[in-house]
Amino acid sequence: MSKSIPQSKPRVVTTKTVMDMKRTGEKITMLTAYDFLVARLLDQVGIDIILVGDSLSNVVQGNVTTLPVTLDDMIYHANAVKRAVKNALIVVDMPFMTYQNNKEEAVRNAGRIMKEVGVGAVKLEGGEYIAETVQHLVKIGIPVMGHLGLMPQAINKYGTYEVRATEKTEADQLLRDAKVLADAGAFALVLEKIPGKLARKVTESISIPTIGIGAGRHCDGQVLVVYDMLGMTEEFKPRFVRRYGELAETMRGAFRQYIHDVKSNDFPSNDESY
Ligand code: KIV
Repeated sequence: MSKSIPQSKPRVVTTKTVMDMKRTGEKITMLTAYDFLVARLLDQVGIDIILVGDSLSNVVQGNVTTLPVTLDDMIYHANAVKRAVKNALIVVDMPFMTYQNNKEEAVRNAGRIMKEVGVGAVKLEGGEYIAETVQHLVKIGIPVMGHLGLMPQAINKYGTYEVRATEKTEADQLLRDAKVLADAGAFALVLEKIPGKLARKVTESISIPTIGIGAGRHCDGQVLVVYDMLGMTEEFKPRFVRRYGELAETMRGAFRQYIHDVKSNDFPSNDESY
């Protein structure tokens, strides 16, 4: 498949590059990574942004929600990603309860990510109520990506992972939140699981790029969780995930073959021995 696809030329991506891409109309590509090898592959093929998402709570740690992952966990995985990346912009999610309390705590925790990993930006979920924190982080030199729509850290408030902002009141609030975050200095905004029409309206109303996940084609860029698009999270099948591989089946096949080869004394062969 990849043979006919033009190669993206690797270039060093900064928050400025990402903001310029909105102006030039070039779509922004973002995928998650939590370890060295996947991050290296993404970087090699010219991904624009690598997100060390707090989805690592689900897909790496096996938790039901994103709430349990800690700042230390995020820093550990972000460091592995950072060692692999030469070009992409790395963004790290701030986990639940590391920035919501007050801006001093947010600065201390975001500061740890910046000092102990040295990435390009942090991502925070929330609207108007975190605008002051966003403004403060940006003022002291910590770039912020916002996140609106379905905010998984608020799952206990919603009680469901269904599409958000289908009602006018929530949609109007989301549009206000987006404008406030842009005014506060966020350099980009993730829009998760909202109607495509609303995502388009937000995208056309703010000067910073929107990056959609389940938010339709009119966003300035797209993001997916890497294991979803690789087909490793087989039971997770929302319509917004396009599968670019069936790695779960491929890996099971390889593991089965290995078990067979060892049991039957086929592996290792003489050529594979010293
Ligand atoms: O944690 C994550 O992977 C995310 C993306 C789904 C945007 O926030």
